[in-house]
Amino acid sequence: MKHRKMGDRWTVNNPGGRYRVIVTKELPGERWLQILIAAHCKVDVCSSTAILGAGEIESAIGKRCDGVIGQLTEDWNGTLFRSLKSAGCKVYSNYAVGFNNVDVGAATKYGIPVGNTPGVLTQTTAEMAVALTLAAARRVVEADAFMRAGKYEGWLPKLFLGKLLSRKILGVIGTGRIGTAYAKIMVEAFKMSLIYYDIQKNRELENYITMYGEFLRTQGEEQVTCQFANSIEEVLSRADVVSLHPVLNKTTHHLINSARLGLMKKEAILINASRGPVIDETALVHHCKNNPEFRVGLDVYEDEPEMKRGLKGLRNAVIVPHIASATSWTREGMAVLAASNIAAILRGFPVWHDPQNISTFLGADPPRAAPSIVNARELKIPIYNP
Ligand SMILES: NC(=O)c1ccc[n+]([C@@H]2O[C@H](COP(=O)([O-])OP(=O)(O)OC[C@H]3O[C@@H](n4cnc5c(N)ncnc54)[C@H](O)[C@@H]3O)[C@@H](O)[C@H]2O)c1
Repeated sequence: MKHRKMGDRWTVNNPGGRYRVIVTKELPGERWLQILIAAHCKVDVCSSTAILGAGEIESAIGKRCDGVIGQLTEDWNGTLFRSLKSAGCKVYSNYAVGFNNVDVGAATKYGIPVGNTPGVLTQTTAEMAVALTLAAARRVVEADAFMRAGKYEGWLPKLFLGKLLSRKILGVIGTGRIGTAYAKIMVEAFKMSLIYYDIQKNRELENYITMYGEFLRTQGEEQVTCQFANSIEEVLSRADVVSLHPVLNKTTHHLINSARLGLMKKEAILINASRGPVIDETALVHHCKNNPEFRVGLDVYEDEPEMKRGLKGLRNAVIVPHIASATSWTREGMAVLAASNIAAILRGFPVWHDPQNISTFLGADPPRAAPSIVNARELKIPIYNP
């Protein structure tokens, strides 16, 4: 494998490759690059940590580009897909499970398959939502800052009183892969009863919690329950902890607004590890200021990397920089899946039949298929039948 520098921000791998693939950020691990090189790709990787603007992406695409691994921080709009089409591009993969930054309609119009990386983020992201919940409930960040400032003068009965989670009511909005994983951890760890809202019922989750409740009963403990709510309002007004896990689209933009915050318990905890614009962040800052016992844990922001005015000064907010999927296992797995999407389409392979179950792509003998192409049906790409 040969490396050379292209300009000062791009590294070229396998310069003699038949296909040209651009990767707009350095990715962790090595296997993803081996997958692309084995598929005869020359791989141009941007080494800058700065988020690329449309102009920089246009010049990286240039006159010839067969495939792209792009980032959720980039706006892959119709103009860029038109440029990709002109450059002969055959496939784009987002380095993310979410693809709200991609104009899939435009990609489809230009005949370009769009890949994503489902499955490998599920547990990691759910665990960060749990970490935010505990940090918010028990004021971990505030207490840490207090210690570091040398303010601790001895144990006190009322020092940093927080909130008990055990046996409280858990609310989850969006019970897809991540929402379900989060709900299971919280219900099992803290024996919380679940109330959830989604546009579709989740029978598998309902059965799981019902069975767990039965198990608790056999142990002489009080059962936990699971209830599907008819509205978001019902979840917000009843739950002690609410965690948001829907996709971001027109139906979920500002799903949490001032009126809905007003329905929540004054001492509730709100967690968001989905996408920033799911919450009206200005309304949230206002609500947190007026309700000091309300707690919020945020991984994502409406105008990333910016925060709305007043957010960083809130003592009742725990804020982390969009790191919910940041474990080495997950980020390397995402790279493998994104590269597999590109390599498979360039090789003319079909699309894997079950994007809910892609772990086989991380093993030693991956299927000859693209793990997840979100517009496969529209583009009539054949489905892999094992
Ligand atoms: N913070 C992070 O680092 C991070 C990491 C991974 C994923 N995410 C975000 O989390 C989202 C969820 O990921 P996932 O893998 O669980 O996706 P998923 O597709 O399995 O689940 C999304 C759920 O949202 C539901 N939904 C759609 N519209 C809704 C609405 N109007 N109201 C309520 N629910 C609605 C869907 O029915 C589905 O059950 C992703 O789309 C992504 O934006 C964030």
